[in-house]
Amino acid sequence: MCRKTNIAVLISGSGTNLQAIIDACESGKIDGKVVVVGADNNNAKGLDRAKNRGIPTFVIDYSQIIKSFKDNQLPIDFNLKDVLSKQSIFDTESDPEKVKLFMMTRSVAEEKLFNTLSSFDFDLLALAGFMRILTPYFIDKVNKDRMRIINIHPALLPSFPGTDGYGDTFRYGCKVGGCTVHFVDYGEDSGPIIGQKAFEINDCDTLETVKEKGLKLEWELYPHCIQLFEKLYHHR
Ligand code: GAR
Repeated sequence: MCRKTNIAVLISGSGTNLQAIIDACESGKIDGKVVVVGADNNNAKGLDRAKNRGIPTFVIDYSQIIKSFKDNQLPIDFNLKDVLSKQSIFDTESDPEKVKLFMMTRSVAEEKLFNTLSSFDFDLLALAGFMRILTPYFIDKVNKDRMRIINIHPALLPSFPGTDGYGDTFRYGCKVGGCTVHFVDYGEDSGPIIGQKAFEINDCDTLETVKEKGLKLEWELYPHCIQLFEKLYHHR
C-alpha cells in the first residue's frame, strides 16, 4: 500500500518555501503531506501559513536555550567526543572551547526538537529557511538508516555556503546565481546535491532583484526535489 510521504518542515522566517511545499502537496505535485512545522523562534511569520492550513506548529526557542544553558541540561545520550569527531562545521583553527560550547548548547535545543518532531512520524525533514546549524547529535538521531534531512540554500553550492547566499553571490560580481537543494550532512551546506536552478545576473540587477529571481526559482525547485525524494525512497 502506498502511503504519502510525511513531511516535517523547519523554518525561521517568512516561510515562502514552506508555502510552496504546502501548495505542491495540495495540488498533487508532491505525493506528500506536511504533518508539522517547527520554528526556532516565536516571531517566525511562516508559522501562520501552517496554522492557516490546520497544520500543527511548535517553537523551540533556541536563543533562550543557548542563553540559559547549564551543563546539567545535556541530553543523556549526548556524546561530546563523538560529535566533535564527526562535525565538519568548524575547522582545526577554531577555538576548541567555543566549538564545544556550540555543540553542547545546540544539543539541548536539538533534544527538544527531536522529541517534539518524533511524535509526528515524519519520513522527511525539510529545512526551509531554518537558520540554525544541526549537529551530528541531531542528524544521527533523525537519519538512522538513511539521509532524510534536506535543505534549500540560496546559492549554487558548493559556492557561497553560509547565511547570505544571494548577498555573497551578488557582491562577488557573479553573472549567474542560483539555488540548491541538498541533503544535510555534518558540515555547513556541504551535503550531496539533489537539484539546482540558475538565473542570470545582469548589470541592472540589485541585491533585491537577485533575491526575487532566486526565491521564485526556489519555489519551483524545492517541491520538485521533494518529489524526487518521494520517488526514490518512498514509492512502494
Ligand atoms: C530562502 O532564500 C532560503 O534559501 C534561505 O532563507 C530564505 C528563506 O525564505 N535559506 C538559507 O539561507 C539557509 N541557510 P522563506 O522563509 O521565505 O522560505
